[in-house]
Amino acid sequence: MSVPIVRTVPDLRARVRAWREEGARIAVVPTMGALHEGHLSLVRAALRRADRVIVTLFVNPKQFNSASDLAAYPRTEEEDAAKLAPLGVDILYAPGAEEMYPEGFATTVSVGDVSEGLCGAFRPGHFDGVATVVTKLLLQAGADLAFFGEKDFQQLQVVRRLVRDLDIPVEIVACPTVREEDGLAISSRNVRLSETERQIAPKLAEILRLAAGRIGAGAPVDRTLADARSAILAAGYARLEYLELRSEEDLAPLSTLDRPARLLAAAWLGEIRLIDNIQVMPLPQNGLAGASDRQLEEG
Ligand code: PAF
Repeated sequence: MSVPIVRTVPDLRARVRAWREEGARIAVVPTMGALHEGHLSLVRAALRRADRVIVTLFVNPKQFNSASDLAAYPRTEEEDAAKLAPLGVDILYAPGAEEMYPEGFATTVSVGDVSEGLCGAFRPGHFDGVATVVTKLLLQAGADLAFFGEKDFQQLQVVRRLVRDLDIPVEIVACPTVREEDGLAISSRNVRLSETERQIAPKLAEILRLAAGRIGAGAPVDRTLADARSAILAAGYARLEYLELRSEEDLAPLSTLDRPARLLAAAWLGEIRLIDNIQVMPLPQNGLAGASDRQLEEG
């Protein structure tokens, strides 16, 4: 069993056109490859909702902040295709750089507002790169549904905003973060952690969960965030880029929990930058300690 690999836009469009003629519902799952359980959960969700599923694999140079990071990014197309085949994916769309960015390419999709702050403040140009390639992939695939993980929550909101602002006719489906047993959010970067760093890594999720529970139960936001920042550094993280409470819908900074929110963090363990986030719901909506059902299940 193998999954057909498509390399060009005309080939992709021809296949999608044939599916449309059959009346199929089509989903796309954009990835940069190096597929792990997090990606596969998106693919399974797509297979549940659509008749045909396209997985895209393109390591997008425009969203990397350094040439060394781009060069170090794993390229594992064969292994990725082998993971997708048994699931029943219909196409792996893996265009080359010249297909995505032919000579003379001069357009950038830049989403304001939700791209600002958080990762946007520490990775200049990153979300322009993401928005540009996602816009292209959505227009190339012409799918009804597109699946993204909540692990990259700011990216998810950037994608939602560009789809809304540019009237791209696709439903964005968000899927929950997949975690290791000890709570560490699954990421392709985790394999680069040393043994000691791997032991420290899940503390980020644990501290976020505790802080979310406290804020949800009514603790003051500023004090709780200050305590959580100290706890992340005390746990062994070398550097904290940000830990912030933001409105879930538009990522506006919050100093009180007056609407559904997310606690988002990025921190460095040695050379590895990890991000994570967790939902925080105001008390009247759950009657518990502010943690959502999903958060309690994940915990
Ligand atoms: O999340 C990713 O893997 C990438 O940012 C995406 C959405 C595939 C765009 O390159």
